[in-house]
Amino acid sequence: MTSVVPARTSAELIGAEEPVLAHNYHPLPVVVSRAEGTWVEDVEGRRYLDMLAGYSALNFGHRHPALVEAAHRQLDRLTLTSRAFHNDRLAEFAQRLAALTGLDMVLPMNTGAEAVESAVKVARKWAYDVKGVPDGRATIVVAADNFHGRTTTIVSFSTDETARSGFGPFTPGFRVVPYNDLAALEEAVDETTAGVLIEPVQGEAGVIIPDDGYLAGVRELTRREGCLFIADEIQSGLGRTGRTLAVEHEAVVPDMVLLGKALGGGIVPVSAVVARREVLQVLHPGEHGSTFGGNPLAAAVGTAVVELLETGEFQRRAAELGEVLREGLRALTGRGIVGFRSRGLWAGVDVDPALGTGREVSERLMREGVLVKDTHGSTIRLAPPLTITAGELRGALGTLEKVLGDA
Ligand SMILES: Cc1ncc(COP(=O)(O)O)c(C=O)c1O
Repeated sequence: MTSVVPARTSAELIGAEEPVLAHNYHPLPVVVSRAEGTWVEDVEGRRYLDMLAGYSALNFGHRHPALVEAAHRQLDRLTLTSRAFHNDRLAEFAQRLAALTGLDMVLPMNTGAEAVESAVKVARKWAYDVKGVPDGRATIVVAADNFHGRTTTIVSFSTDETARSGFGPFTPGFRVVPYNDLAALEEAVDETTAGVLIEPVQGEAGVIIPDDGYLAGVRELTRREGCLFIADEIQSGLGRTGRTLAVEHEAVVPDMVLLGKALGGGIVPVSAVVARREVLQVLHPGEHGSTFGGNPLAAAVGTAVVELLETGEFQRRAAELGEVLREGLRALTGRGIVGFRSRGLWAGVDVDPALGTGREVSERLMREGVLVKDTHGSTIRLAPPLTITAGELRGALGTLEKVLGDA
């Protein structure tokens, strides 16, 4: 990458945002202007290793050549039709995405939250039309400490007070049970239950991995009780954990899988509900939609993403490099970190609180050229692009060791 002379400094640009941009984020003080692969560059030309990857939206790195090419090709032909007409890219995208996930039908949307909202609607409609739940009585069981997005309905079943407080009145029809607790789930499910919505790994909560058997148990319970298993794989899916979907670690096929983030290749917002035919066929014309959902540019990029995943290369890399990550974190345990959880190229790292908050550690790492983000308290999350090399990963772990050692 060649550096450009900055038009304005980072400090000036951060200052310029302050009065005009809603303060709903607290970004690290780095102003990125270019990126390629696993590296980003700020306006002053400083380079950073990206160990966050856009919360897993950049699983294939920044500007993966195959994805950029697919986008360019499509930009030159057709970008938007709306679903008022057919477009020549959508059928292939839906076919290949369904095949990749082992399911039958696709409902294309744009953001992750929209996929979750859509799944809630589909599950409710399925409960009324297929299961025979009395109208207006359908419930969905969710897990405590979930993160499924930011809409009014989704924050209605969040247990994070910061995410909820001040945004009521809330949407009814949700029951919250502890994560990783099959007995509590069994207790909450009844004849009104449309489905159980969980993250196979809770990302925002700090990369919380359920016990072996939990996902298989949810599958067994939902099948037995006649309700849907809805897996939110928006962060955990598409290669991150070393498998195409995190549920594959327990050889489980849910009734509905929610995808987003990396499905758009870090280029355009693309999300989808992928489901069994009996489930998604409850939707009829006019009952749900999105102007941009399934647009040809999104479908072209999404198809190129699926094509990358069809090779299995990224899943393999995540599994293999995940071992390097684990080894490095094991070596730091007791030496600056008090514990960690990881699956594939994804880790929640609990830093010794005596050494600083997650935010402070993230800022120190940033000054040393590594970008990460804190989740809660002293926990930071590591989720590099799956294109990272073993050398880059060891370099980042070395920087973490230095930053913790210096504290
Ligand atoms: C598991 C999960 N579901 C849903 C979402 C919401 O996605 P979006 O921010 O694209 O609406 C996120 C975002 O972090 C997520 O991690």
